[in-house]
Amino acid sequence: MSVNKSTSTLVFFVNGKKVTEVSPDPECTLLTYLREKLRLCGTKLGCAEGGCGACTVMVSRLDRRANKIRHLAVNACLTPVCAMHGCAVTTVEGIGSTKTRLHPVQERLAKAHGSQCGFCTPGIVMSMYALLRNAEQPSMRDLEVAFQGNLCRCTGYRPILEGYKTFTKEFTCGMGEKCCKVNGNACASDTDDTLFERSEFQPLDPSQEPIFPPELQLNEAFDSESLVFSSERVTFYRPTNLEELLQLKAQHPAAKLVVGNTEVGVEVKFKHFLYPQLINPTQVKELLEIKETPDGIYFGAAVSLMEIDALLRQRIEELPETETRLFQCTVDMLHYFAGKQIRNVACLGGNIMTGSPISDMNPVLTAAGAQLDVASFVDGKIVRRSVHMGTGFFTGYRRNVIAAHEVLLGIHFRKTNPDQYIVAFKQARRRDDDIAIVNAAINVQFEERTNKVAEISMAFGGMAPTTVLAPRTSELMSGQEWNHQLVERVAESLCSELPLAASAPGGMIAYRRALVVSLFFKAYLSITLKLSKSGVISSDALPPEERSGAEIFHTPVLKSSQLFERVCSDQPICDPIGRPKVHAAALKQATGEAIYTDDIPRMDGELYLAFVLSTKPRAKITKLDASEALALEGVHQFFSYKDLTEHENEVGPVFHDEHVFAAGEVHCYGQIIGSIVADNKALAQRATRLVKVEYEELTPVIVTIEQAIEHKSYFPDYPRFVTKGSVEEALAQADHTYEGSCRMGGQEHFYLETHAALAIPRDSDELELFCSTQHPSEVQKLVSHVTSLPSNRVVCRAKRLGGGFGGKESRGICVALPVALAAHRMGRPVRCMLDRDEDMLITGTRHPFLFKYKVGFTKEGLITACDIECYNNAGWSMDLSFSVLERAMYHFENCYRIPNVRVGGWVCKTNLPSNTAFRGFGGPQGMYAGEHIIRDVARIVGRDVLDVMRLNFYKTGDRTHYHQQLEHFPIERCLEDCLTQSRYHEKRLEIARFNKENRWRKRGMAVVPTKYGIAFGVMHLNQAGALINIYGDGSVLLSHGGVEIGQGLNTKMIQCAARALGIPPELIHISETSTDKVPNTSPTAASVGSDINGMAVLDACEKLNKRLVPIKEALPKGTWKEWINKAYFDRVSLSATGFYAMPGIGYHPETNPNARTYSYYTNGVGVTVVEIDCLTGDHQVLSTDIVMDIGSSMNPAIDIGQIEGAFMQGYGLFTLEELMYSPQGMLYSRGPGMYKLPGFADIPGEFNVSLLTGAPNPRAVYSSKAVGEPPLFIGSAAFFAIKEAIAAARLDQGLSGHFPLEAPSTSARIRIACQDKFTNLLDIPEPGSFTPWNIVP
Ligand SMILES: Cc1cc2nc3c(=O)[nH]c(=O)nc-3n(C[C@H](O)[C@H](O)[C@H](O)COP(=O)(O)OP(=O)(O)OC[C@H]3O[C@@H](n4cnc5c(N)ncnc54)[C@H](O)[C@@H]3O)c2cc1C
Ligand code: FES
Ligand code: FES
Repeated sequence: MSVNKSTSTLVFFVNGKKVTEVSPDPECTLLTYLREKLRLCGTKLGCAEGGCGACTVMVSRLDRRANKIRHLAVNACLTPVCAMHGCAVTTVEGIGSTKTRLHPVQERLAKAHGSQCGFCTPGIVMSMYALLRNAEQPSMRDLEVAFQGNLCRCTGYRPILEGYKTFTKEFTCGMGEKCCKVNGNACASDTDDTLFERSEFQPLDPSQEPIFPPELQLNEAFDSESLVFSSERVTFYRPTNLEELLQLKAQHPAAKLVVGNTEVGVEVKFKHFLYPQLINPTQVKELLEIKETPDGIYFGAAVSLMEIDALLRQRIEELPETETRLFQCTVDMLHYFAGKQIRNVACLGGNIMTGSPISDMNPVLTAAGAQLDVASFVDGKIVRRSVHMGTGFFTGYRRNVIAAHEVLLGIHFRKTNPDQYIVAFKQARRRDDDIAIVNAAINVQFEERTNKVAEISMAFGGMAPTTVLAPRTSELMSGQEWNHQLVERVAESLCSELPLAASAPGGMIAYRRALVVSLFFKAYLSITLKLSKSGVISSDALPPEERSGAEIFHTPVLKSSQLFERVCSDQPICDPIGRPKVHAAALKQATGEAIYTDDIPRMDGELYLAFVLSTKPRAKITKLDASEALALEGVHQFFSYKDLTEHENEVGPVFHDEHVFAAGEVHCYGQIIGSIVADNKALAQRATRLVKVEYEELTPVIVTIEQAIEHKSYFPDYPRFVTKGSVEEALAQADHTYEGSCRMGGQEHFYLETHAALAIPRDSDELELFCSTQHPSEVQKLVSHVTSLPSNRVVCRAKRLGGGFGGKESRGICVALPVALAAHRMGRPVRCMLDRDEDMLITGTRHPFLFKYKVGFTKEGLITACDIECYNNAGWSMDLSFSVLERAMYHFENCYRIPNVRVGGWVCKTNLPSNTAFRGFGGPQGMYAGEHIIRDVARIVGRDVLDVMRLNFYKTGDRTHYHQQLEHFPIERCLEDCLTQSRYHEKRLEIARFNKENRWRKRGMAVVPTKYGIAFGVMHLNQAGALINIYGDGSVLLSHGGVEIGQGLNTKMIQCAARALGIPPELIHISETSTDKVPNTSPTAASVGSDINGMAVLDACEKLNKRLVPIKEALPKGTWKEWINKAYFDRVSLSATGFYAMPGIGYHPETNPNARTYSYYTNGVGVTVVEIDCLTGDHQVLSTDIVMDIGSSMNPAIDIGQIEGAFMQGYGLFTLEELMYSPQGMLYSRGPGMYKLPGFADIPGEFNVSLLTGAPNPRAVYSSKAVGEPPLFIGSAAFFAIKEAIAAARLDQGLSGHFPLEAPSTSARIRIACQDKFTNLLDIPEPGSFTPWNIVP
């Protein structure tokens, strides 16, 4: 083939249909192609970096060498469409639909309640589908691996696993014995434990699956053809033999080889690198070769990681253990390398050649001294050479000795000998699908049948710009005995040989340094165990309590039970209230038919909007010039503050203290300065990078709460105080007083669907908006403000959201307002959906909080007084921060009666993006302080925390510090049930025993109660409306003011209307939320969506029922359809509105003293057991038990889904999810790569949820209770359990008493808190003596 530019035709199949593309864009991903070109929008965009799995599709290709069709789950967001030549792509639409037939994979997920917002659902369906195409009956371990690359923010994963467990080998029970294997608990007679009926599932019939397209099978040219696809910017080559490949590389040394594109794709998307030549070498046989020799196995550089894993596992089974230690160490590492979608396509060559300092395979290969084969084309011929991976291989950050014109051909994996041991460990923020913080590989050769070190090689990642070896320490070990004395010397030597500057990128300096030694020690323990097992050293060389230190955590197989109240046997079968009905849109979500904002088909003349964002935390804008951007063809307009009047530009959900576009000054990184409107997304985004912004930096830059306190940077009218009794007096009289503080970080919402808006001008003075917002009325109001159109000309519509969690309550305006303005001014439809990094940068997070308190108590531990200061980090504008603070101030005492209280609140103004509502809305932060206080008191009086909790619990009739009387306070009942359910007392003994027997693993258990007040803090928001239209065919269209965010609101509203109208739910449909159907709505927030909208629905139903009474009386035997028909002909209105205003609330000490602040409370208790690895800081939740009082559940499946999802989100908040900011307030963690939400493997090994029975709530619709936010705080039980476990570790070290631990309790914080002989070796510079890489806001 000539390497000159030419054009080939791209041919592939999608869902059985042939796609022919004559000029594919080499920069286009498969995801963009599917969504924009083929209009297959079931496949979602969640992150564009391979980290969420929302874009998972199955790619099938014929492996002609093995004559096998391979089906692979891949991330369409990273797959170049040009790489699809000759492949068959299957998307979620290709396997089933509600119109034809659901695939069992879709059906089981939906019916098992595994889909809430549904945005992750197609990706999860496709991961499972691809797994089943490879293994008809997979194991639970296969499931674990299949979902490593998928995230769900809503469900808590349990229902997905329960649904899909039915496909596995482990699920052998027949219908008759359902549950008893899964659920350990026997059901009491008034409780039910069946959330879905497996008997309804269609069987899986693999013979029904679509066949691989015969055309691809028969025509070898699809593989043998050399291809060139070119655009103006990039050329994509697919050579088919080595010479061609090497010639291309010789001609274009800077060209990138793309195999999985999992490095290059991320660089192009997020670092905006432009690589004019891309070469796909996946048809070059030398790079795909797998050769087995007596010495080992040779893998071609482009062989996928999954193939390597599979073959190595096979050989580990067959060969003697002594020969396969490198193989074992490799598969151990590969298990935690990215997710399966990445490993299916990524190759080892890509990992080596990228040379990332945190690469997982480079330490293994470097320690093993792997041999690499390299080739190039020089002087008209192929030149081959061998390269040794070891000292000197890496020459700098992402550089190595292989020259730019050379190509890595393959890697030799050598068999080990009986005296050689090689082990590797990786520590990341999250175990599954995360890049390493530090990793290590240790390869030791002993003298024959001895424990004397002949030679040792130790490689570490995460400690320098490259993978590094520790030659000095290795030298020191040579000839030495492998024993504890050696460990001491090695630890000291490693500490000095692998230093880390205090400001080194990546932060966590002390932790990373501690990990080097700790991972070595783990390796030491592991190898010592192996030596003693092989009889080289005595079997008791390692004390039993040290042994578990050699191990790592493995994901336990899930056990769970869900118990709820059985509906009365006389309830009519068609009455859905109280039954576990499937989410109304679940089936459509599972088939990809459910439409989200960005799935709305593109319109004629539609434009795309992208943002110019601030790159300074605080500065004057001295120059703003878009001329270069506007000069690009297809770029239409630039908008900035100059396009609006001062008044129009000033917006905000309550106070108009922020700007649509920065008005001359920026207040944080990521603030919106302007917007570019262009023909398409790629162009608009490229153009924004050409807009010139110059700044004059201003000081001080305030990022943290502590800095705000130092500068007294508070919003006006703060601090505010709430008082009860006399705090000073009570503190003076207390037996004990204690002053403490606690702090917790923010949390990214990480709804799977980012903010999106589409605005369409209708007529010259009307605008229609489709918006991913929890508050359509606010968007309508502010669009009206910005465009000067009256509200009656602006319609805002929201069909469903791919999650919100509070993040789309007020921040939706960031996107909606510029989009609406552009559409209005330009008279053309305009769309924008934020990329994940933009969304994370722009839209704010949960508020970080700092609490300082002084508490007084008796010697028994009865709290008599508390003086507490609450500070939240609001960012640069007020948004809803005042309300978030107020809820924290009202919830700090959690379930404990404190007779004398002074609580002060400060809203800190900082140079961060405005922080905002997030599920719990300040409540969890407040209760976090309360749980610290109760534990401090217990510790000081020397009593069990549980006893002190019981002593201080509110009783029915008590009043809170904001004067609300507690009616029916059920916390004792929840607690007792939860203690029984969790076998609390037995577990305590087990934990004590475990901790005594293990030095490097510790367990902890914590009980956490919760009390969450239900009502909006702002009085006027506690109202709702509904509209019901009944049509001649008897079908009912229901509209209400709430938005379906995934929480099942529409399902519950349908259930309400079905019971109220006495008709089956199937007759009722909810299409969308729209400001022209129900006006002046409140945000769907504060957990009251079902409470207030449900009552409005009932109000409308009552009106209709009243009108139908005479008709029903006249036709007592008539059917619903007949009654409706008659009503129509009798000219009875079949449309009614409903309205509800929450009664009895709005407490004000002077103006409304008899009212309540909250309508009622939702309560619950959780017990969690965790185990920590004291050497790495890693942890595993062993079990969680939750008992919630949610009144009479309207839909136990949805409510349990909310509880489990909220628990997992709370668990993430308190343990895993850490936002990383630079000292200047720039957010580093802008995607799933760096920001870790809990994944499938993080759910508790045993996860039991019970709903309290016999506890109807008189204050809400059908005796139910609000559930969305209240359970979130129970996630903190994991944090407090971790703290207990750390305390046990510290005790072994002779450390008792108080120690600080901030939330989230990340692996770094756990490790450093578990002080020991290794951490004592570290010389860490004093804070303040250097500029750290990151700070905690
Ligand atoms: C979500 C996600 C998670 C990840 N997790 C991990 C992880 O846990 N651990 C880890 O180590 N990495 C991880 N990575 C990084 C990445 O997946 C790996 O480095 C992978 O091995 C790269 O392979 P690839 O085929 O996709 O590389 P590509 O992106 O296709 O290529 C990468 C680079 O290698 C060069 N190259 C490829 N083959 C050759 C060759 N034969 N000769 C010369 N140069 C070559 C290319 O020119 C390019 O510069 C992750 C990436 C993502 C997106
Ligand atoms: S969108 Fe592809 S993995 Fe997230
Ligand atoms: S259902 Fe999984 S992200 Fe919403």
